[in-house]
Amino acid sequence: MPAGKRFKIASIGAGNVGATVAQYCVELELGDVVLTDIIEGLPQGKALDLTEAGPIRGYSCKVHGTNYYKDIEGADIVIVTAGLPRKPGMTRLDLLEKNGAIVSGICENIKRYAPDSTVIVVTNPLDVMVYLAYQKLGFPPNRVMGMAGCLDSARMRSFVAMELGVSMKNVDTMVLGSHGDDMVPLPHYTTVSGIPITKLLPQERIDAIVERTRKGGGEIVALLKTGSAFYAPAASAVRMAQAILRDEKQVLPCAAYLTGQYGLNDVYMGVPCVLGQDGVERILELEISDEDRASLHKSAEEVRTGIAGLRERGIL
Ligand code: LAC
Repeated sequence: MPAGKRFKIASIGAGNVGATVAQYCVELELGDVVLTDIIEGLPQGKALDLTEAGPIRGYSCKVHGTNYYKDIEGADIVIVTAGLPRKPGMTRLDLLEKNGAIVSGICENIKRYAPDSTVIVVTNPLDVMVYLAYQKLGFPPNRVMGMAGCLDSARMRSFVAMELGVSMKNVDTMVLGSHGDDMVPLPHYTTVSGIPITKLLPQERIDAIVERTRKGGGEIVALLKTGSAFYAPAASAVRMAQAILRDEKQVLPCAAYLTGQYGLNDVYMGVPCVLGQDGVERILELEISDEDRASLHKSAEEVRTGIAGLRERGIL
């Protein structure tokens, strides 16, 4: 992407996640945003509302709301947020069939109108949906990734900060694996200004934080009752978009296509990635315990079950 270019970011879906993605993008002045949705009036209304907030919030990026995919033409980044959210009691895998069909249709349009874009998938079940998108788009894997680890690690960072009464900005962590209850938060790679949390918290508090992180999405679903989280998911997707558009070489956990890393092949899962202008520029392989490795492989099995489910239903 040439320097000085005015970027175009498309959000497919103008629900809570899509609209918040648009808000964070313009507030960061990342680029102009196209907000698309199949519901007539919804993306147009939210886009106009966000535009009218611009003079007060102090941004000059444009937000365009549309029901037509052709308007995403030339987008540098496409963020796929469309799909059904979980209701209380549902697992992310319960969304497989409906969201699989939605994501397939979206990918045909991305391929047609934004063939050079980098695609960030947010729709659940995340790791399965991003694998589906990769297959349908036919883009190189560095340009197709899923947002999950960034969210899961943000949750863990906030839980550690709340527990210790320290700034969230001081906490760093890493969460691997699928975006489900089998995700693999890594306390050994969690620090507060460089101090390992294993030196600051007793094991049972660390275990409780790990468990809360795993169930973090469900905790919000249970509270909201009518949908799932959107501020932190949108913030995470925009964090990834920023790293790519500004070529930051940020190390962030993302669902990336694995070709042997961590002993896993032909599957998408959360791993630490270097994000820059070429998308997922590198995957970092950390040294992890046998137990974490076993959890990672278990979580890959869950993703493979979802992929097999798509094949059984003729979606893939
Ligand atoms: C969550 C949903 C978006 O984790 O998967 O909140």
